Amino acid sequence: MMTGSDSNAVAGGLARHIPVLARRAVGWLNVHDGGLYIDATFGGGGYTRAILATPGARAIGIDRDRSAIARGAALAGEAQGRLDLVEDRFSNLQSIVEDAAVDGIVFDLGVSSMQIDEAARGFSFRLDGPLDMRMGGDGPSAADIVARAGERDLAAIIATLGEEKHARSVARAIVRARRAQPIESTAALADIVARVVHARPDAIHPATRTFQALRIFVNDELTELARGLAAAERVLKSSGRLAVVAFHSLEDRIVKTFLTERSRAPAASRHRPEPASAPPTFRVLTRRPETPDEAEIADNPRARSAKLRAAERTDAEARSGGIENLLPRLPLLADVMRGRP
Ligand SMILES: C[S@@+](CC[C@H](N)C(=O)[O-])C[C@H]1O[C@@H](n2cnc3c(N)ncnc32)[C@H](O)[C@@H]1O
Repeated sequence: MMTGSDSNAVAGGLARHIPVLARRAVGWLNVHDGGLYIDATFGGGGYTRAILATPGARAIGIDRDRSAIARGAALAGEAQGRLDLVEDRFSNLQSIVEDAAVDGIVFDLGVSSMQIDEAARGFSFRLDGPLDMRMGGDGPSAADIVARAGERDLAAIIATLGEEKHARSVARAIVRARRAQPIESTAALADIVARVVHARPDAIHPATRTFQALRIFVNDELTELARGLAAAERVLKSSGRLAVVAFHSLEDRIVKTFLTERSRAPAASRHRPEPASAPPTFRVLTRRPETPDEAEIADNPRARSAKLRAAERTDAEARSGGIENLLPRLPLLADVMRGRP
């Protein structure tokens, strides 16, 4: 995640932002001359720039957002053959790197300031725009979900992915409002939510949690994360490093659970006295998640919720599957789009 700053133009000069925890996250990668590093969430290129600061290091920057990749062209030019940019989802990491041995992978999850601050992308309840929220241009938009989902599915999405305790009231209000007219703009949705969720003046905007939920659902962010971590396990070489910066508890819980499971040899139990044979595939480097210091938070309020975890790949064979348990139960997109009641 990153935020606006007048003094931090990077990667192509169009975006102005401060990458969060970049120095520390990239620090965990142990970047060295000749190494190959993946920036799975290229965004404005701040992390990639930090990787490329080591002479001789090579990087692949991935982003599902075409405009992020286009903006990165200037940095790729500066890097003189050390940077490849790929427009794709990071869940496809393995096919992107093919057989290359990867020394380090970093994920800086969520959306960028450029995405949030461009009203036409529809991520922000503060800027009126079409209710879109797609990071890539594909699949149903937030407006499609809000138009089609049944009340129960809407409530489940908002409760689970927004951790919104008024989810049922919000879902009911959405269904009532869309009978009168389609909900097509961010301002319209924010107004509907604000009528049923009453926040204290000093608290976050009442629509924050509903917008977060829809954004995560539209972009299937948690499945992407679980698949991205599993792909990282497959492509990292022995002693390769993984660093992940998460911005809310749903993301951080997935990262933490994945690393805990992958760093622990399965124990023997009373029912199965022989321990299962899969040895740990990661060694956790951060016993507790690292967080930004006060200076970074003062400079960049969006850094406040960031949590950084890092791990080192062992030489054990990657485990197959085993990511479904990382994900919360959610309605299926196909059911939601069918508009089941
Ligand atoms: C917080 S920003 C990254 C900022 C970046 N570290 C920097 O320093 O500028 C997150 C970026 O990841 C991209 N992204 C999110 N989920 C993705 C996914 N599943 N696959 C590829 N890119 C993704 C978003 O489009 C966004 O540009």
